[in-house]
Amino acid sequence: MVFNLKKNKTSEEIQLDPDKMPNHVAIIMDGNGRWAKKRHLPRIAGHKTGMDTVKTVTMAASDLGIKVLTLYAFSTENWKRPETEVNYLMSLPGTFFDKFVPELIEKNVKVNVMGYIDQLPNETKIAVRKAIEDTKNNTGMVLNFALNYGGRAEIVTAMQEIAADATKGKIDVADITDKTIDQYLMTANLAPYNDPELLIRTSGEERISNFLLWQIAYSELVFTDTLWPDFSEDALKDAIFNYQKRDRRFGGIKE
Ligand code: FPP
Repeated sequence: MVFNLKKNKTSEEIQLDPDKMPNHVAIIMDGNGRWAKKRHLPRIAGHKTGMDTVKTVTMAASDLGIKVLTLYAFSTENWKRPETEVNYLMSLPGTFFDKFVPELIEKNVKVNVMGYIDQLPNETKIAVRKAIEDTKNNTGMVLNFALNYGGRAEIVTAMQEIAADATKGKIDVADITDKTIDQYLMTANLAPYNDPELLIRTSGEERISNFLLWQIAYSELVFTDTLWPDFSEDALKDAIFNYQKRDRRFGGIKE
C-alpha cells in the first residue's frame, strides 16, 4: 500500500488503497451560503453551484467504486429558512435531474431518496419519483438524497412502526434487536450498506445536525474547511485517504 500525502496534492498524487474503500459515504454539504457571501452573490447562487458540485462528486464517487453516496440536501429543520430560499432549494432536484439523469444512466447510477417525500411540493415530488423510476434498473452506485430528512424524526417513525407491528402481533417485543431497527429505518433499502463507514462535513462546522443518528454509530468523521461549492474529486479522494489511515476498532482492541 502506498501513501503519498503532499500539500496541495493533485488527484494523481493521492494513492488510495482499493482494498480499503468505504462502501457507503455520507456527506453534509455545508457552506453554500458562505461561498456566495464571499463573492457578494445571493445565497441561492451558492446552492446553484452546490448543485453542480453534487454532479462532480457523484461521478467521482462512482468512478472510485463507492456503493452508496448519501447527500444531505434538505433537513426537516431547513423549512425555517426564508421562503424564497426554501422554494429555490425545492426546485433544485427537478433542475438537477432534468440536467443530469442521462449522465447518471450512462454511469449506471441509481437514484434513491430518503425523507418525508409526501410533504414536499408537488413538482419536487414528481421530479424525485421520475428520477427514481428512470434509474430503477441501474445496478451501479446508489445516489441517495436525504430530502426533508431528520435523524430524530426517522427514529420516531421507526419506533411508531415497530410498536404498531408489535401490537398487531407481527413482531415479538423480545425479538427486537438492532437489526430490527435497521429494517424500519429509511436506510433499510440500502442493505447491506445501511451505515456509512465515512461521514464528511464541509465548511469547517464540526457537528452532525440531525443526520443519520443511528447509522453513524461507528462511522469515521472527516471535517474539512472547504465550502461545498468548492468541494471536488480531489477533496473527496483526500477525505477517503484520511479515512483509510484510521484505525477502526469498533470497541475492540488491536492485536
Ligand atoms: C447548507 O449550506 C446547504 C444546504 C442546506 C442545501 C444543500 C443543497 C445543495 C448542495 C444542492 C442540492 C442539490 C440537489 C440536486 C438536491 P448553507 O446554506 O447552510 O451554507 P452556510 O452555512 O454557509 O450558510
